[in-house]
Amino acid sequence: MAKILSKGEFTTLTLTDDSTVTKTAIDEGAEKLAKEIDFLKLNKSKFHYNFLPHVFSYEVKEKHAYYSIPYLSGPLLRDYIYSEPDFLLCEQSLEKTIANLDSLHRQPGTIEAAAFSRKYYFERLRGRWEKLKNELSDTQLQKSFSVEGISSSDVRSVFSLIAKGTTLLIDGKEINFSIEHLASSLASFQKTFEFPQTSIRLIHGDPHAGNILLHDDEAFFLDPNGFMDGGDVAYDFGKLLVSFDWHDLSMMSMLESANIEVVSNGLRVTNNKVYKDDFIKERHVALRRKIMELLTEKVVPLYADDPLLLQRIKLLLYVHQFSFAPTLIKEKPETALHILLNAISDYSTFTEGGRFSLT
Ligand SMILES: Nc1ncnc2c1ncn2[C@@H]1O[C@H](COP(=O)(O)OP(=O)(O)O)[C@@H](O)[C@H]1O
Ligand SMILES: [Mg+2]
Repeated sequence: MAKILSKGEFTTLTLTDDSTVTKTAIDEGAEKLAKEIDFLKLNKSKFHYNFLPHVFSYEVKEKHAYYSIPYLSGPLLRDYIYSEPDFLLCEQSLEKTIANLDSLHRQPGTIEAAAFSRKYYFERLRGRWEKLKNELSDTQLQKSFSVEGISSSDVRSVFSLIAKGTTLLIDGKEINFSIEHLASSLASFQKTFEFPQTSIRLIHGDPHAGNILLHDDEAFFLDPNGFMDGGDVAYDFGKLLVSFDWHDLSMMSMLESANIEVVSNGLRVTNNKVYKDDFIKERHVALRRKIMELLTEKVVPLYADDPLLLQRIKLLLYVHQFSFAPTLIKEKPETALHILLNAISDYSTFTEGGRFSLT
């Protein structure tokens, strides 16, 4: 009997015998899986990276695709960094991850830098939020509710309200937010998003800690996003950073649930960013510090003609969260809302002191 390892809306991963994992996708998922197959097959055969799994077999049809790779025993980086008592070992796994990303990034990409920036940093985000903004909300929100156990239709209503524009009072801090505010604030960082062609390399596209598996002294990269023409290296590091932000803490239920009250001019959010455990809190801070250190020491010097690289990576921490929060509403409504609230409050802090504060 095949054992199911993981199941999403369109993809299922099964352990078919003790040594093979088969990833199957249906409907919309098939197209993405086909790109994943192309990426893994081409790059593994061309460059022989130890950290990419070898594809044993695959098939792609219009609404159905699958591929098989070796089963890799070992923890996901996402779990390891909070369960391993020895922090030095966690640091080593981060070093390995960044070194592997760097190896991948040695290959140049072909997509034009300006086109990549426009599409992935502006148009995609805008498109996802525009839909929510234009939505007629059919649910009436309760006066007061917890994020815990919230339904996806209620989260959709909150996202729609936030997209149109509202005042958020998050743990005492007032933020006027709308998708227009966000778009103009991001546009003010134009220089940071205009990067040289030398920063277009082969990228993984989704190297969050849930796609990195530690096995046999190696950090394996699973689930690439299939950017066959390459992309901005900052895109990858931004995704990695997101994993060490509130995203994974929420995914792993390591945070208390925030409470939301509907008030006359908007929403009041309390109990946001409250850790269930002090150990996790300290780890989180230390891991983020370590990543920033590694990026500064090992990555930034490799891109001398991209002086705003680190600034862009930090900005992408927010761009990524604003961009994918809407895609999580249906399957992970609590996480979607947590990510959005934290992205709004942290981005507003990030931009404070500059001209384009959201507050
Ligand atoms: N080769 C493998 N060996 C062991 N576990 C795997 C393997 N591939 C995937 N998994 C498990 O399945 C999960 C989902 O796989 P992934 O390719 O990331 O699919 P999804 O597109 O659903 O995120 C991973 O987080 C990991 O826990
Ligand atoms: Mg994955």
